[in-house]
Amino acid sequence: MKRLMQETFDELMRSLDTAMIVVTANDGRERAGCLVGFHVQCSIDPLRYAVWLSKANHTFRVALFAEHLGIHLLTERDRALATLFGESSGDDVDKLERCEWRAGPYGVPVLDECAGWFVGRREALFDAGTDHVCFVLRPVEAHAIGGSHPLRLRDVAGLTPGHSAEDRPVPPDTRT
Ligand SMILES: Cc1cc2nc3c(=O)[nH]c(=O)nc-3n(C[C@H](O)[C@H](O)[C@H](O)COP(=O)(O)O)c2cc1C
Repeated sequence: MKRLMQETFDELMRSLDTAMIVVTANDGRERAGCLVGFHVQCSIDPLRYAVWLSKANHTFRVALFAEHLGIHLLTERDRALATLFGESSGDDVDKLERCEWRAGPYGVPVLDECAGWFVGRREALFDAGTDHVCFVLRPVEAHAIGGSHPLRLRDVAGLTPGHSAEDRPVPPDTRT
C-alpha cells in the first residue's frame, strides 16, 4: 500500500512536469550553482519566491552564507547547462569555469546564456527537518529575453544528480 502511494505520488509529480532552473550563489569565499526543480513564486504582495536546496549540495552550503541567490530560467536550448549544473558537484569541479558567466548584482554569478534570470535577497530560511531547505527570496533585479520554451523535468529525467539527497555531511553546513 505504501509503495503504491509512493508510485502514485511520483506519477503525479511527473505529470506537473516542472520547469527547471539553475540557482547560483556567491558567499564571498566560493561560488556555486546547481540545477533545481523545487521552486515556486510563493507570495504576490510582498513579492516572494521560494527555492529548496538539498542539504547534500555544495550550493546549499554556499547559499547558507550568501545574502542573495541567482535564479536562472532554462529553456530547451539549455540542456548542456542543465547537465553541467545537475550532474556535477562543486565539491569536485568548478562548474563556472565550464560555462559563460559574469558577476551580476551583489556579486551573484549570472549565466548570460539563459533567457531569463533574477536575483533575490534572502528573507527567510525554513528547515522542516527534510532533506531540502527552503530559501524564501525577495526579487530585487530581473531580466527577461524570453522567446523559447522552458526546459522541463521530462527533458532532464535521464540526468544523474551530482549528489543524491541522502549524500550529506553531518552537520549539513560543514565546509571543507
Ligand atoms: C532533475 C533534477 C532536479 C533537481 N532538483 C534539485 C532541487 O530542487 N534542489 C536541489 O538542491 N538539487 C536538485 N537537484 C540536484 C542537484 O542539481 C545536483 O545534485 C548537483 O550536482 C548539485 O551540485 P552542487 O553539489 O555543486 O551544489 C536536481 C537534479 C536533477 C537532475
